[in-house]
Amino acid sequence: MPVPKSDYLSDSWRDGLFTNKVVFCTGGAGTICSAQVRALVHLGADACIVGRNVEKTEAAAKDIATARPGSKVIGIGAVDVRKPDDLQKAADRCAKELGAIDFVIAGAAGNFLASINQLSVNAFKSVIDIDVLGSFNTLKATLPYLIESGKKHAVDSKSPKPSPLGPGGRIIFVSATIHYRTMPFQSHVAVAKAGIDALSHSVAIEFGPLGVTSNVIAPGPIGQTEGLERLLPSDTFESYMKSQPLGRLGTVRDIADATVYLFSDTGSYVTGQVLVVDGASWRMSAGSTTGGNLSYPDLLLSGQPVPNVKTGRRSKI
Ligand code: COA
Repeated sequence: MPVPKSDYLSDSWRDGLFTNKVVFCTGGAGTICSAQVRALVHLGADACIVGRNVEKTEAAAKDIATARPGSKVIGIGAVDVRKPDDLQKAADRCAKELGAIDFVIAGAAGNFLASINQLSVNAFKSVIDIDVLGSFNTLKATLPYLIESGKKHAVDSKSPKPSPLGPGGRIIFVSATIHYRTMPFQSHVAVAKAGIDALSHSVAIEFGPLGVTSNVIAPGPIGQTEGLERLLPSDTFESYMKSQPLGRLGTVRDIADATVYLFSDTGSYVTGQVLVVDGASWRMSAGSTTGGNLSYPDLLLSGQPVPNVKTGRRSKI
């Protein structure tokens, strides 16, 4: 279903900004990543999104394609970012069918609330595998294409002028702010996101000389996302809002605009950075989520478990 442009992109950007560019995105059927891709497609890019769920990924691709008549958006399902071969095949197909990979968004992530006591070794590992290894696998599968694109779209370092072909050779890792201040029941996610940030910084240094830029976008509380619904129980919504410096939740458009900034010429000298898009939320010590029936430290002291934890279904520790 076509989504009004104002839902996913501000009016600041000119149409055609990303003509002849190709974006490859993991987790592209998710609420945030699909808005990022939709914005790039609206502005001229073709796209390939990958995900585990075949139907969801293919339907999201069709939906995203409505952002611009004539756009090509491929949805490749049954791709688990924990499996390097899956990703390699998808990246190769993207480059073959769409001609290149100029931009990558490593967005696939796993999340649930559970205390350390309740996390089995396998539960912890699952999130690390999806987030950290998944990001690494995405990087490895797309790097040759990013390097090729970086070379083709190189900024002339003597002038320095943007390439007449526009920008290319850029990757964004989608992370979070959870690990800056730490949050109860999110140890697995905090460790994973810290790893993703470190990976991105390393990419910036190792591949900058080859024309590739790497940055992190760290979304804060973004409305209507699965993540926020989990972290912010409805009974705590009002008090949480009062604690927010800008008095509102973020929108997927806020994240999409940040993506356009980093991928267009405006981001050509920005690499190795974390762009936090959170309305200063994480800086508010009173802004911690997991209130309501997950109140800190009451739940920990009560000896009661975090509700709905499925850990230890298979593994014993
Ligand atoms: N609380 C605690 N442990 C949980 C859990 C929960 N809510 N959900 C799953 N786990 C545990 C499982 O019990 C299992 O551990 P065990 O073998 O010790 O029983 C382990 O995590 C792996 O679970 P499984 O369902 O086999 O993994 P999966 O690979 O199918 O799913 C998850 C990965 C767990 C991250 C799942 O939540 C997921 O697929 N998430 C993707 C979507 C998502 O989280 N999006 C959020 C974006 S913010």
